[in-house]
Amino acid sequence: MPPTISRIVQALEPSATMAMAAKARELRASGKTVYDLSLGEPDFDTPSHICQAAAQAMDSGHTHYTVASGIPELKQAVVDQYLSAHGLEYAPQQVVISNGAKHALHNVFTVLLDPGDEVIIPAPYWVSYAELVKLTGAVPVIVQTAEADDFKLTPDALARSITKNTKMLLLCSPSNPTGSMYSPDELGQLADVVIDAAVIDRDLLVVADEIYERLVYSGHQFASFATLRPELPERTILINGVSKTYAMTGWRIGWSMSPANVAKAIGGLQSQQTSNACSISQYAAIAALTGPQQCVDEMLAEFAKRREFVTRRIAEIPGLSCAEMGGAFYAFINISRHLGRSYDGVRIDNSTQWCLELLSQKSVATVMGSAFGTEGYARASFATSMENLEAALERIEQFVTQ
Ligand SMILES: Cc1ncc(COP(=O)(O)O)c(C=O)c1O
Repeated sequence: MPPTISRIVQALEPSATMAMAAKARELRASGKTVYDLSLGEPDFDTPSHICQAAAQAMDSGHTHYTVASGIPELKQAVVDQYLSAHGLEYAPQQVVISNGAKHALHNVFTVLLDPGDEVIIPAPYWVSYAELVKLTGAVPVIVQTAEADDFKLTPDALARSITKNTKMLLLCSPSNPTGSMYSPDELGQLADVVIDAAVIDRDLLVVADEIYERLVYSGHQFASFATLRPELPERTILINGVSKTYAMTGWRIGWSMSPANVAKAIGGLQSQQTSNACSISQYAAIAALTGPQQCVDEMLAEFAKRREFVTRRIAEIPGLSCAEMGGAFYAFINISRHLGRSYDGVRIDNSTQWCLELLSQKSVATVMGSAFGTEGYARASFATSMENLEAALERIEQFVTQ
């Protein structure tokens, strides 16, 4: 008999974005041309000055274990960056460098959540939040937002979701999967609800995932959550990293910034769990944060062109729509008007069937809205070339108008 997998892991949903990307790769390996809009990673190469810093780190012998929670120079670079960009003062001991922001989030949940604690997660949400929360035995409390509200949690909906078991609120702005962004004022209103509730509940924390902070389009303004009210730094955990801003997804460097006792606990956990994040990548991340930033502006300019194109094309396709993207590189396409009908003889009733059939009939990979907790949508990443986007949207149009 095969070994029994633990109950907690049996309940875990594998990442749907990675599953769709794997399906796209399989199709490609079988000789088909696939238009892949499934993965959230910049298609640009890591800027060369960052790669050179990694080579130099190897030549200088930085190929050994480092302090488990990260090298002091990188923590200092993170702290300096938050101070200059947001006026937020953190001490290097409040930063823990992990193997990507995903790992940083897992660490935060592990050190802060006990079984039965509730974590409020506005939907649509990034695929890993609910699953990582469940791994701790805590309970994700999913609060649906509406396209009409730009997929933003309202202060009323937040207040209604808080119970005596609520421990944490998760916010992601700019958002994966919708690209929607809270204005500083809207974040401030949510902060007020958290602060009021915390008076009664003592320990209501906010995890603010700011990984798309630098990918913000004109007309939109980013504010780091902890800056909005003086009470917030002590109840906020900030998550960030280099993956999206510097096209460094494979280097696996992300971090958390938290109250000192939380950071200490995360450092302790990580020392037993993975030890340090890759030493060479840590030196590369210093070059990313402290080196020339023109590469970020160039990538953002390219994303902005694609965003404009994708917005226009989706509006042209009968029955499809998408909310305005303020940041990140995703379009969350409303496909609900195209559900409950047949496509080349195949009846399609939900977003999973729609995405799988789009892949099989038209070789376009997207990710089903249900993976993000919201049915009736499909996520298309525009972190891919303009040619790819043109061909993919042409095929999506053929698919829905057949
Ligand atoms: C909202 C959000 N948070 C965190 C991550 C994880 O990033 P990393 O590559 O640093 O693990 C992603 C990646 O897709 C993301 O979209």
